[in-house]
Amino acid sequence: MFAKLQETLEDALAQVAEAADAETLSRLRSRFLGRKGRLTSLLRQTGQLPADQRPAFGQAANQAKQQVEAALAQAKERLAAGPAADQGPDVTLPGIRPRRGRLHPVTQAMRLVLDVFTRLGFDVVQTPEVETDWYCFEALNLPPDHPARDMQDTFYINDNVVLRTHTSPAQIRVMEANQPPLRIVCPGKAFRRDSDVTHTPMFHQVEGLMVGADIAFADLKGILTTFVHQVFGDDVPLRFRPSFFPFTEPSAEVDIGCVVCRGQGCRVCGQTGWLEILGSGMVDPNVFINVGYDPDEVTGFAFGMGVERIAMLLWGIDDLRLFFQNDLRFLRQF
Ligand code: DAH
Repeated sequence: MFAKLQETLEDALAQVAEAADAETLSRLRSRFLGRKGRLTSLLRQTGQLPADQRPAFGQAANQAKQQVEAALAQAKERLAAGPAADQGPDVTLPGIRPRRGRLHPVTQAMRLVLDVFTRLGFDVVQTPEVETDWYCFEALNLPPDHPARDMQDTFYINDNVVLRTHTSPAQIRVMEANQPPLRIVCPGKAFRRDSDVTHTPMFHQVEGLMVGADIAFADLKGILTTFVHQVFGDDVPLRFRPSFFPFTEPSAEVDIGCVVCRGQGCRVCGQTGWLEILGSGMVDPNVFINVGYDPDEVTGFAFGMGVERIAMLLWGIDDLRLFFQNDLRFLRQF
């Protein structure tokens, strides 16, 4: 009878495991546990056993009933969970759309700037972030005592090798490797030993250079005016303010009408109504000599701008550090 009990139990568990619907489960329940069920009948026959075996058999039979009971409950749950749990993925369920990635605002601003210049016929080039003193300073007409060369401002790899402090070395590399006429923009990273609310040790610049037989200051003004209007809007005023850079002569900084107060004067523009957005100028003859060009034959202009600054003005971002904290709540807005 013990063997019969074991056999019945195994049969019950196997059938429950295969049951595919609730109806089958209830049929199985009555077949095994009902008043006339197979386990119930076995339990009733306990009295036919020798007296010393009755307690053990009764106990085993009751345990078997409990096991079948538990298996039925489990099967019921499995069926309630639906076909997914039972038969692999339910291909009819709506999918979970993956969140779409996006470009960093600095990358977006960079591309916007490059797009304008490529439409104007400029080629995009990239040059090394680690430069020698020659490319970063000397060839650009920066005198040996220029403050940019100070250990305070520049990351030195050794006496002669630095992390470029600006993208202007691209001018030298491009002119050394090519003959005029040429029109290039160079996007990339620049590095300075500077870190506060408005400075980060790494930032991005776009350098520009146009060289040819008769490039005049009027060309500089025309190209940069087009640039400002395409990036910030046709109605944004701009002005060319005299300035100084060692590698250009004459030099000018370009200001645009404050995009925050529209020229009325506010905290962002320091009450002036103007915001500086780039440095520029006519390439200094010494720079041409340094790359083997004849300053009597060619002229040209150059410019350089900070990309984070452009992005801040485009989208009204007032804290530079937001670009580098990688806070998705910030980045998802662009
Ligand atoms: N290299 C300058 C800087 O990092 C920016 C600059 C000014 C670049 C005038 C130029 C230029 O090409 O003509 O601040």
